[in-house]
Amino acid sequence: MKNTVVTFKKAKEMNEKLTMLTAYDYSTAQLIDNAGINGILVGDSLGMVCLGYEDTLSVTMEDMIHHTKAVSRGVKNTLVVADMPFMSYHTSVYDAVVNAGRLIKEGRAHAIKLEGGVEVYDKIDAVVKASIPVMGHIGLTPQSVNAFGGFKVQGKDEQAAKKLIEDAIAVEKAGAFAVVLEGVPSKLVALITEKLSIPTIGIGAGVDCDGQILVYQDMLGMFSDFTPKFVKKYETLGEKMKIAFETYIEEVKNGVFPAEEHGFKIDEEVIEKLY
Ligand code: KIV
Repeated sequence: MKNTVVTFKKAKEMNEKLTMLTAYDYSTAQLIDNAGINGILVGDSLGMVCLGYEDTLSVTMEDMIHHTKAVSRGVKNTLVVADMPFMSYHTSVYDAVVNAGRLIKEGRAHAIKLEGGVEVYDKIDAVVKASIPVMGHIGLTPQSVNAFGGFKVQGKDEQAAKKLIEDAIAVEKAGAFAVVLEGVPSKLVALITEKLSIPTIGIGAGVDCDGQILVYQDMLGMFSDFTPKFVKKYETLGEKMKIAFETYIEEVKNGVFPAEEHGFKIDEEVIEKLY
């Protein structure tokens, strides 16, 4: 069944959990789509897990469009959400609408995601009015890493918790169809989820969200630079890949690979004429 923003709305109404993972390329998107997920986020986390930056701040619109195109070609039934990179919407409402439009037109995403609460109300509102579904993102928003002084859990004291509730309500009022809550205490997330009529998608936000999202390299154990506390490793593919790469190197060096079955045949007569 095709997943759309309506699927997300209905899931909240029916109290059914939503599932999302990130993806950045065609073949991974195809695998995740075949598994029957609700949504794929082409996250700006690609800056860290694919491009090797230490944060998401250097990711460009061109990076996002390039990877969103690849993911969109890989999915049949999954809702594709593309991240608006740092400074692609902060500068003006006009920039927000133009850049969101590029992710839809060129990247073929179905929706966009942008970070922030009350302060980005006007941007979410304008993008939604341009018929582009918006997923909000509040809490530990990685594009604010310098403002936060690091990747820190948000909403821990009363004032910060109240601000997060205001942010969540603003994102909903501005017209977002869902909101990501990242790095927020679980009990506060439960309260926010109860207050909102749009689904909350959690990452490091406990079990009481309406859905969950993880970075796929984290949950498969493929990325070792940094593993946040909230990640569950469903596989140790990084270790398995290393063994496979080492075996390949050894087999090539020893002449074990390629074997006869990996080659192509030619008539003996043809070969004889060449000597
Ligand atoms: O960029 C990303 O992958 C994200 C998720 C962690 C929600 O924003």
